[in-house]
Amino acid sequence: LVLILDFGSQYTHLITRRIRSLSVFSLCISGTFPLSSITSLNPKVVILSGGPHSVHADDSPSFADGFVEWAQSNGVFVLGICYGLHLLVQRLGGEVRVGEKQEYGRMEIEVEKSCGIFGGKKVGDRQVVWMSHGDEAATLPNGFEVVARSQQGAVAAVEDKDRRFYGLQYHPEVTHSPEGMETLRSFLFEVCGVNAGWKMEDVMDEEIKVINNMVGSDDHVICALSGGVDSTVAATLVHRAIGDRLHCIFVDNGLLRYKERERVMETFERDLHLPVTCVDATEQFLSKLKGVVDPELKRKIIGKEFICVFDAFAKELENNLGKKPAFLVQGTLYPDVIESCPPPGTGRTHSHTIKSHHNVGGLPKDMKLKLIEPLKLLFKDEVRQLGRILTVPYSFLKRHPFPGPGLAVRVLGDVTENNALDTLRQSIKDAGIYDSIWQAFAVFLPVKSVGVQGDQRTHSHVVALRAVTSQDGMTADWYHFEREFLDDVVQKICNNVRGVNRVALDITSKPPSTIEWE
Ligand code: XMP
Repeated sequence: LVLILDFGSQYTHLITRRIRSLSVFSLCISGTFPLSSITSLNPKVVILSGGPHSVHADDSPSFADGFVEWAQSNGVFVLGICYGLHLLVQRLGGEVRVGEKQEYGRMEIEVEKSCGIFGGKKVGDRQVVWMSHGDEAATLPNGFEVVARSQQGAVAAVEDKDRRFYGLQYHPEVTHSPEGMETLRSFLFEVCGVNAGWKMEDVMDEEIKVINNMVGSDDHVICALSGGVDSTVAATLVHRAIGDRLHCIFVDNGLLRYKERERVMETFERDLHLPVTCVDATEQFLSKLKGVVDPELKRKIIGKEFICVFDAFAKELENNLGKKPAFLVQGTLYPDVIESCPPPGTGRTHSHTIKSHHNVGGLPKDMKLKLIEPLKLLFKDEVRQLGRILTVPYSFLKRHPFPGPGLAVRVLGDVTENNALDTLRQSIKDAGIYDSIWQAFAVFLPVKSVGVQGDQRTHSHVVALRAVTSQDGMTADWYHFEREFLDDVVQKICNNVRGVNRVALDITSKPPSTIEWE
């Protein structure tokens, strides 16, 4: 295991992903967790992430006392990245100071001493890297040596070979450091001697074991299916583990897309052969959402209502089975956890809540059902890979992600007004480029603008179109449509969707925006 101690960098999750892509299992936990949380995982390598702090600030986060001594006496390799390097330097008796010139963006570094971390690179070799720091290592602790420096003379890479400490001032995990992946590879395989052998098949076997240990031999389990990749893969996995003691429910919350309920129910029966109970809770959700405009409040209300529906379903099953289901399966993914500012145990204590995903930050505190979240440590593309192994039909695996709160987060403001949900349902149709896009949808804006339709002045709503490409939903770029395609879509929307006379195209990436608008 390669363990990442998170000190709040926006790139921390990328370190985890990059290492997994080298077939090495990696996990991320909060950098300030007690030593026992680290030692119990028995990692061979620990990576200290970057972070937005300065080690000189009073409340700057740090690793637990005893960490360095534990790493030393157990032969553990430690790599500090950016803030992680500063921490290592400071805690080992060196000095970190505010750099004379701050370094942000692409920079060149030069190798000063050959070192395993740079593979076959020779002294004098240069490479472009991505820097983002104000502080820098001024005096190194005893035993540390400079391995590379930046153009401006700042320490860019260090090693203390005997004690197995390494540090990089730049971010090897971002694609803007073109040789960063090679550096991580050299560090893990050549310097630390890690074995590459982590496979999705192992994840599946391990998760099936975990589920079986958790659920008693006569316990029943509910699974909330949305028709999307995550919940379908989660359900299939749990079904492998406990068979027909799994009971699936699909909730129509009134916030679904055009004919989605019919389509999902049909494909479940035809392709998955998992019995699913469909519940129409449109009234229940929409009445609770009436008048609500705050995005976080909407998400919390939706999370709570889902649980009410699941509780009612559990009661109904109790009447039929004689035993109440005690567990609820959800297809929560790692990014949902990362961005929802989650409960302890999941890292990210130094980063901010981006949004409360309905199945993480939106759950009520007094929930009685215990959660089974077998995908909680996986990214979307890894879930698709697991789905392939579980032989989940391709029609499910290729589906674009659709957020649990549904169209509620695509109608800005009150979802129950202005016929907004119907406007959105009519605005989006498949167009043959589905597979090259991560997600494509329309957003209902609560503004009206002046137009002219049929020689008449109109004062109607605006919809924004958003289509993005992404690998895991954590970062995204806008999809570059052909001009003719856009012309066609805009014409169709303005001609066919009542109450819309203007269409805008959202061409922001994530960051700075998120994919959904709320
Ligand atoms: P954002 O909008 O945060 O979205 O950039 C990243 C990905 O997550 C989806 N999303 C959600 N999925 N429950 C979900 O299951 C939610 O509450 C939720 N909010 C956003 C979003 O559609 C995108 O794919």
